[in-house]
Amino acid sequence: MDYMVVYSSKTGNTKKIATEIFSALPGMSKDMQSMREYRGKDADVFFIGFWVNRGTCDISVIEMMSGLHGKKIALFGTCGMGRDAAYFKSIEQKVNVWVPDDCEYLGTFLCQGKMPMQVRGNYEIPMEDPKQEVWRKKMLQNFDEGLFHPNEDDLWQAREFVEQVLSRV
Ligand SMILES: Cc1cc2nc3c(=O)[nH]c(=O)nc-3n(C[C@H](O)[C@H](O)[C@H](O)COP(=O)(O)O)c2cc1C
Repeated sequence: MDYMVVYSSKTGNTKKIATEIFSALPGMSKDMQSMREYRGKDADVFFIGFWVNRGTCDISVIEMMSGLHGKKIALFGTCGMGRDAAYFKSIEQKVNVWVPDDCEYLGTFLCQGKMPMQVRGNYEIPMEDPKQEVWRKKMLQNFDEGLFHPNEDDLWQAREFVEQVLSRV
């Protein structure tokens, strides 16, 4: 069994998870490349990483995945939102539709990733509407918690995900 880890990462969070996944994979028949580096290197099992861009993955991930046939595909990603299982599920569903029909889908791992500091400014000004103010505070708290992610626990969960995937192939 050989493995390819291919990831899209703008600010490094998804690359961190990709590196952990790569190191958790057994044997020597494995490689890791960014989406930009990837030129079609083949493998039996693909771990494909994405950063969440407006609720889904970026187009490079869709294009890359569309070129795979007869492969086993596991997905992983990072997003600004944390601790929200329903949100994670919605992302998984939006991204896994791009797994080609003739490939076997092996699941998705998602975790929170820190966002650039300038994003915090969007949540710093108090709002008059009480409902919006509750939302703003929630987003501010989420942003601050995100500063520590991916953390050691996320990396541990990524390794667990690899174990689960390997038990299925
Ligand atoms: C343009 C843009 C759009 C984003 N859209 C979302 C989003 O819809 N949902 C979310 O939870 N995070 C969103 N984020 C946050 C990133 O997904 C998050 O910071 C991710 O960990 C970045 O991964 P990277 O460091 O691998 O690039 C967005 C970030 C950017 C820059």
